Amino acid sequence: MRRLDVPAQRLGFTDLQKAKALSMLEKTLTSGHLSAGPWVAELEERIGVESRGAEVVAVSNATTGMFLSLQGLGVTGASVLVPTNTTMATFSAVIAAGCRPVLVDCAPGSLTPGLNEYREAAVDDVGAIVAVHVGGYPSRELHDVAAWARMSGYAVVEDAAHAHGLWTGDDVGVGDVAVYSLYATKVMTAGEGGLVITANSSLAAHVRSARNHGKGASDATPREIVGFNGRMGETAAAIALVSLDDLSENIAARLERAGWYDDLLAGQDDTQYAATAGNGYKYVVSSVHARGEIRSFFSNRGVALAGEVFPLPLHLQPAVGIANDFPNADAVCRNHYCLPIFPSLTRPEAEYVASVALEYLGERERLLVRT
Ligand SMILES: Cc1ncc(COP(=O)(O)O)c(C=O)c1O
Repeated sequence: MRRLDVPAQRLGFTDLQKAKALSMLEKTLTSGHLSAGPWVAELEERIGVESRGAEVVAVSNATTGMFLSLQGLGVTGASVLVPTNTTMATFSAVIAAGCRPVLVDCAPGSLTPGLNEYREAAVDDVGAIVAVHVGGYPSRELHDVAAWARMSGYAVVEDAAHAHGLWTGDDVGVGDVAVYSLYATKVMTAGEGGLVITANSSLAAHVRSARNHGKGASDATPREIVGFNGRMGETAAAIALVSLDDLSENIAARLERAGWYDDLLAGQDDTQYAATAGNGYKYVVSSVHARGEIRSFFSNRGVALAGEVFPLPLHLQPAVGIANDFPNADAVCRNHYCLPIFPSLTRPEAEYVASVALEYLGERERLLVRT
């Protein structure tokens, strides 16, 4: 097959998107209303409608959104169960909220913990659990996990940084609050930004005030809480709105490409890959081979693999300082790679990427594809 150069992502906006964004920015610059203005309000309103009427609070980023949510749930000082297979941001939010993170292993062969793993990790003073929708795949057994957490009196915070669009679905948004990231590389972006989505109106009111240093009705209103600066700017909100306009098409295109990979790699695995379950943010391939070797095999053939979810679990991060034995997370972190997947990936590019994967397997013996 003819060699192609395939990037890990193509992030640029289309001409139509750029024109829309520029005309919105023109209005913002003319009004001089650069923060917490009409674009932020429109973003919150539109996502609220899409998420079955839940309340939406736009914030500066997902890390701050999770921190302010945990603060609002009143769990400061308590232990919080956190999957070890996540990024540092999840951990930082828990620390910022004054909680004690207790790490949880993945379920065997899975990117996230299931009910058993959360139960086994529970300690006496748990105030909340965090579930992470890794790579845009709904966290495993979340309905059961949330039911157990509620029975036990624990709040459920969903790190939905990767799960855009699933706010209308059934497997995300089952906890007390779900927090999305609008960082530059995400399925929906503002450059920097976050969305806190909750059906709990007192929690929404807390985050709304806390994102603006605990401000109430006016500057002069005495402050009831110590908040933070978690505001979203108008430029970010305008870009997010443009990105939201194309979100359904974006996700449909990603899932179509995941389906291409499924077909092109079919028969190589003994576990089916459930592409339609997520939003196509990542296409995760589980492989028993060393990732460094795989990355160079692909890059020598012009294919840049996407970032892993995740390359190193929290318990192996020196900054975390919680050394523990989490064999399932170790295995999943070490033994996977992510194929390039984005809406403008062409069919010939996907065929070429799959041919490289198959060539690799021809030299190796086995590929397992699973979530
Ligand atoms: C799983 C996960 N949680 C949280 C975050 C933090 O998001 P933000 O950069 O918007 O704070 C990220 C960012 O990449 C993420 O991947």
